[in-house]
Amino acid sequence: MDPQFWIKAWKEGRTNFHQDQYHSKLVEYLPTMALIKGQKVLVPLCGKTKDLIWLHGLGLRVRGVELYDEAVRAFFEENGYPRPQITQDETYTHYAHDDIVVSCGDFFKLNENDAYDLIYDRGALVALPPPMRRAYAEVIKRAVKVGGGYLLIVYQYDASKMQGPPFAVDDDEIHGLYEDRFDIRLMESKRPDNEGARLAAVESLRQNVYILKRRS
Ligand SMILES: C[S@@+](CC[C@H](N)C(=O)[O-])C[C@H]1O[C@@H](n2cnc3c(N)ncnc32)[C@H](O)[C@@H]1O
Repeated sequence: MDPQFWIKAWKEGRTNFHQDQYHSKLVEYLPTMALIKGQKVLVPLCGKTKDLIWLHGLGLRVRGVELYDEAVRAFFEENGYPRPQITQDETYTHYAHDDIVVSCGDFFKLNENDAYDLIYDRGALVALPPPMRRAYAEVIKRAVKVGGGYLLIVYQYDASKMQGPPFAVDDDEIHGLYEDRFDIRLMESKRPDNEGARLAAVESLRQNVYILKRRS
């Protein structure tokens, strides 16, 4: 999806993806992943999600990446950190408070190898149209450490019934993108509630939760 699509969505307040609570599947599944304090988590395409706060509350070092700077500023402001420290490199403007860093810029430019113990992906892979997903998956595969985890939440539905985003991403595609590097477990596949009228209207809608483990 073109960055302008997202900037326009933010400016026009079309941000139904944003939730005021922590994501229930993060809260349910993360404790099963046996992370320890001080480990590093990456949250791609993070918007202003409160899930960054929840992850930080576990003692994890949290890094989000988001392209829209007003969303990044709003995240710190709305969570009681109005003056994050701001630094700049050639790729990103980094906003930091304590062990939460949100890097403002293009996720596809992230060039980190074996850096993260966990990737948390909600509303990220499904935000991208099919032609962009392979490149996205390559960044993810590089970024996570061997032995590291990837908690991935996607939607699956009959794509003739709704135009994304959020796009439908089925099980075959998850395997096609990730099975060369990850062991993949589908933890649950259920019709979600509280997803807003547009998604709720799609009869075939399911929310699939995966836990992937990097092998090599
Ligand atoms: C569907 S929203 C999900 C946000 C967040 N994960 C959540 O659960 O609330 C997708 C977000 O990705 C951001 N985004 C889209 N393309 C991006 C890119 N190439 N690099 C960084 N952020 C991007 C958008 O601005 C938007 O905030």
